[in-house]
Parts: sequence; C-alpha cells; structure tokens
Amino acid sequence: MIRLCELGDIPDNDAIGINTEHGEIVVLSRDGAVHAYRNNCPHLGIDLNFQPDVFMDLDGHYIQCANHGALFQVEDGLCVHGPCQGQSLQAVAIEVIGSTVWMRPAGTTTDSQ
Ligand code: FES
Repeated sequence: MIRLCELGDIPDNDAIGINTEHGEIVVLSRDGAVHAYRNNCPHLGIDLNFQPDVFMDLDGHYIQCANHGALFQVEDGLCVHGPCQGQSLQAVAIEVIGSTVWMRPAGTTTDSQ
C-alpha cells in the first residue's frame, strides 16, 4: 500500500492533494470520515483545481472543479451539477490504519503491502 498522509494533515470538511506514483489523489475529510478520489474531472479528464489544495466550493460542501464549476458529492464523488452531471470522480480505495491514511492501488487486495 502507499502512504498518503496522516489524518491530522486533512483539515476537517476540507481536502488536500497528494502526489503519488499513480497521479495526484484528492483526500477529503467529512465529519470524521475520509474519502479519496483521483484528481481528474470526468468532464475533460483534467485536474480539478487551479491552486494547490483548493478543491471545495465556497461553502465547503461539494468538491468543485475549478474549470467549469462542476460540483461533486464528497461521499461518493457523484457530479450533481455542471457539464458532467451524473458522472462520478474515480474513487480511490483507502484504509485508515491508526492515524495513517493508506492507498490501495487498483488490483491489490486488503492483504497487500
Ligand atoms: S473540466 Fe471539470 S467541469 Fe469542465
């Protein structure tokens, strides 16, 4: 597995971007739960953000693509508004072990290290 960050690195109800060998991963915290998606908008297949670690809308409720304003639900990555409405961000399988957030690359099992 690939270490992404510590839980304390993610501001509550906000997001950070983490560069990995599998591209940039957006890691979010919402009410104590952690979610992760590839930094790739389903509209044009480009980065969601213009500025580092700026992924949320002004209210901090939705993930917002800076390019054309698509809004995505934090919990499942579904686009609820914008040019790719009905499509979803690509979820990344993660595990929280102790205080560390790990990414499980696609194709590996829970037992893989
Ligand atoms: S590239 Fe994300 S909404 Fe257009």
